[in-house]
Amino acid sequence: MRPPGGRGVPPAPRALLLALLALLAGAGGARAELRVRVRLPGGRVAEERLQADGAGDSVGLELREPDGALVSLTADFRKHVKILRALVLGELEKGQRQFQALCFVTRLRDHEIIPSEAMAKLRQKNPRAVRQAEEARGLEQLHMDMAVNFSQGALLSPHLHNVCAEATDAIYTRQEDVRFWLEQGVDSSMFKALPTDTEQALPRCGQAGDRGAPCVCRYGLSLAWYPCMLKYCHSRDRPAPYKCGIRSCQKSYSFTFFVPQRQLCPWEEDS
Ligand SMILES: *[C@@H]1O[C@H](CO)[C@@H](O)[C@H](O)[C@H]1NC(C)=O
Repeated sequence: MRPPGGRGVPPAPRALLLALLALLAGAGGARAELRVRVRLPGGRVAEERLQADGAGDSVGLELREPDGALVSLTADFRKHVKILRALVLGELEKGQRQFQALCFVTRLRDHEIIPSEAMAKLRQKNPRAVRQAEEARGLEQLHMDMAVNFSQGALLSPHLHNVCAEATDAIYTRQEDVRFWLEQGVDSSMFKALPTDTEQALPRCGQAGDRGAPCVCRYGLSLAWYPCMLKYCHSRDRPAPYKCGIRSCQKSYSFTFFVPQRQLCPWEEDS
């Protein structure tokens, strides 16, 4: 699948590909942070923060979207949990809250993002370089049909408490991901099914009448650049291929989820 508008991501120049090298050894277990400049859809440049926690086996990234929303991704490899959080800016003059927090929790699959020990070793030669993803992974549409109870959420991932602290009533997941976690021994009592549009004939929030009426909300976000795979090089001096850099990807997400009141989905009100 391609992102809306069908724009492909042009390949980055070769010099950029070589600039991120995982050269330093022995950084396992360490916490590391790296700031890179990335080109957003639409052309603006944003600073992105990449974090790695080798001991906790997790990675994080954070960047500001073109519409001002602050988006973060937390990948908890130990628990197979991925948390996408958005802090969406409201329009105060329309009586909206200053910002609204949303947390989307899904199963972290293998090879979605580079491992924490590789992320901890990333260095860049040229911090001023503007990076553009080498590979477009397209748009993933997810229907979030369950809610996660915030106070029990630490049992799913210890990161949930920090990351979703401002989204306590808006932590969403999917039944198919929950099934996987239950097989891993996670307690089922923290998950609650949300009303579905098929059983209640719920309208999309853009078409709902009353501000207090329940509806199906949509929120989209895009990760403009993230290290998704390791690159291996061959050398005459070494018997086996060795890790020598990363491949970068771009990916967009479109989430739909139930809200009990249309005013909790203000970005769809004017559309
Ligand atoms: C979440 O779990 C706590 C502790 O079990 C419980 O007291 C609370 O009522 C639950 N909240 C919701 C919204 O279900």
